[in-house]
Amino acid sequence: MTGKFISFEGGDGAGKSTQLFLLSEDLEARGRRVVLTREPGGTRLSEQIRSWVLHESDALCKPAELLLIFAARAQHISEVIKPALLRGDWVLCDRFTDASYAYQGGGRGLPAELIQQVEAVSTECMQPDLTLLLDLPVIEGIERSVNRGQGGDRFEEQDIEFKRRVRQAYLNRQSNEPDRIRIINATRSIESVHTQILDLISKLIDPKDD
Ligand code: TYD
Repeated sequence: MTGKFISFEGGDGAGKSTQLFLLSEDLEARGRRVVLTREPGGTRLSEQIRSWVLHESDALCKPAELLLIFAARAQHISEVIKPALLRGDWVLCDRFTDASYAYQGGGRGLPAELIQQVEAVSTECMQPDLTLLLDLPVIEGIERSVNRGQGGDRFEEQDIEFKRRVRQAYLNRQSNEPDRIRIINATRSIESVHTQILDLISKLIDPKDD
């Protein structure tokens, strides 16, 4: 596989979508083919699962939520991510498996061992080449989301303690896998965050292909 798989993670209001878009423009300008996608989602079936998981008003029990998210992910990998990487494309994904450890693990309190078991059967523990963790204090993220008029899904409506646990779970994963997961200081300006990201990405770009 010559393509690269990059995931973007972080709490609400960290600016993932803007940065995904800016990076994809840069890569395309350098002649790379880019597939922009998201989780839960990215395929027809997985987008349907997304709407159940994010907006279904019936209370989903925790294991059902976890299994649905991993079902969406398995489909996404087989239909979109693997074929794109085999073609040599760059896949930029708005969230991936780290989000399940952060939200279903840290946030909802499901044990990491259980998530690992589901991960092993559904995705064979496939990991991105690089994960950009856009980190900022929880309060700041909430303020930004409110200012942008965002909010309303089943996770954004959670209380501040939930969001703190999510952030902590992300940071714990980062400290266990510091080479793959890189922290980006998301409190800075859009331009400065983009520059931090380009610095990291340049190490993945093979100069022979430029
Ligand atoms: P996101 O697309 O970042 O939301 P937004 O519409 O605000 O940009 O993510 C959707 C939500 O899904 C987010 O609140 C976190 C949640 N989520 C999980 O709980 N587990 C997961 O594995 C993933 C990928 C997302």
